[in-house]
Amino acid sequence: MIRTDRIVIVGAGIGALYAALELAPRPVLMISPEALGDGASSAWAQGGVAAAMADSDSPEAHAADTVRAGAGTVDATVAAMVARVARAHILDLTALGAPFDRDAAGAYVMSREAAHSAPRVVRVAGDQAGRQIMRTLIAALSETPSAQVIEGALATRLQTEGDRVTGVWVTSAAAPSGEVLIEAPAVLLAGGGSGGLYAQTTNPPRIRGQVIGMAARAGALMADPEFVQFHPTSFDIGEDPAPLATEALRGEGAVLINRHGARFMTGVHPDAELAPRDIVARAIFAETQSGNRPVLDTRAALGADVLTRFPAVAETCARAGIDPVTQTIPVAVAAHYHMGGIAADAHGRSSLAALWVCGEAASTGLHGANRLASNGLLEALVFARAAARDIERVGAVPAPAAEPVALSFPEGGLAADHEALADLRRTMTAHVGVRRNAGGLKAALRVIARLEAAHADDPSFCNMTATATLIAAAALQRTESRGGHWRDDYPNPDPRLAHRTMIRLSEALCLRETALNETADAPS
Ligand code: SIN
Repeated sequence: MIRTDRIVIVGAGIGALYAALELAPRPVLMISPEALGDGASSAWAQGGVAAAMADSDSPEAHAADTVRAGAGTVDATVAAMVARVARAHILDLTALGAPFDRDAAGAYVMSREAAHSAPRVVRVAGDQAGRQIMRTLIAALSETPSAQVIEGALATRLQTEGDRVTGVWVTSAAAPSGEVLIEAPAVLLAGGGSGGLYAQTTNPPRIRGQVIGMAARAGALMADPEFVQFHPTSFDIGEDPAPLATEALRGEGAVLINRHGARFMTGVHPDAELAPRDIVARAIFAETQSGNRPVLDTRAALGADVLTRFPAVAETCARAGIDPVTQTIPVAVAAHYHMGGIAADAHGRSSLAALWVCGEAASTGLHGANRLASNGLLEALVFARAAARDIERVGAVPAPAAEPVALSFPEGGLAADHEALADLRRTMTAHVGVRRNAGGLKAALRVIARLEAAHADDPSFCNMTATATLIAAAALQRTESRGGHWRDDYPNPDPRLAHRTMIRLSEALCLRETALNETADAPS
């Protein structure tokens, strides 16, 4: 066991880095499974940060779009607050050196993405926003002596005394090892979402709901776990994870067509390719299921400009042997963002004392049932700052420098069971994905329970199954369709259910148990 006066930050994406900088000079310890800058979903974000920077735009319009996209369950107060402070965060990132695209007059160049009523996404070099903002924050952190970063360590469990979090158990991310307990005065979870629980995902390989599951297993309240966002246009080129073809391409006029050459979105929604993301995702899914092989066509809209204006997309095309100037890009739906997560209030506080949360691991009420494009990085920035300020306000940490933490792992631990993980991911995609129904969700809960029982001594795997259980059980409980949650057996929204889900893991486990018993009772 190690005891430190440092605030422990679990994660290494934009929320984690921004919070560490905000907390300076208070000493922090960041726990990062990979080398800093690698492995975080933030670094893979292509779109940018949504913010009403143009004179013709307003925070009110941004908040209204957020509420509309969220399909009836966005917390309007949170949306108004986030939209209002967005501009200040862009200016602060700019002051730190983030190289946002600017025009000749110095104004921010903004992309248009789905369900935004105006071009509102502040970007970097077309599709490089996440990577470049991360670079800027990492450079600033390297000049911040109060921040210690431990790379190659994975958080596995929270230590609690009653309802208070007193520390974090960590293990080696590189090889099986035993765990070490780091006792700390405050813990901020900023370790990403759950996309990698699905077989088809745009998330980095390590992002598999572990942080959400860890908090759930410690008894924290969870919010909206059933709401998972599926991105309509990941590259369908057989790669795992699936590379993203940013929505900004459609904002520039790229269209979706099927193998018959039909532009199918025009018959689905008045906004066609720029309809809310859940609607485009379901249409793509339907085309794929029907064997119609949907593709993204950037040729007329962008021509050769796609190569210079969207370097990440161009790089993926080159790797896959696609020339986007003359050819179309095969696309498929992939798990992209978890709107649900650890319930967090306006200060980033969880339901457990001394535990804060920000970024995709948190569920703040901003996204509702369907996140508005590029509100993800914005939410991470806003709640990272809010949490940092709250940690200071609560006075959990003494200001003076703390000793650096030296970590060495004891022998022990288990090698990951790749087949079990693959089984879990296949099950989530097959039964808890874009289209759901009661039979499939119960089947998924059975598989999750079986896999969990077989790996009860692997805390990291049990964090994943805890999150998978929460998603499937809450999806089973929500007998309607809303935003990213679609039920074939309940295809309409139910006005009585136009509210957020608040659930603890213990309740999700009861729902799982009921599903198992129902099956056991069923006549063979
Ligand atoms: C995209 O660039 O299409 C993704 C942006 C986001 O998920 O916010």
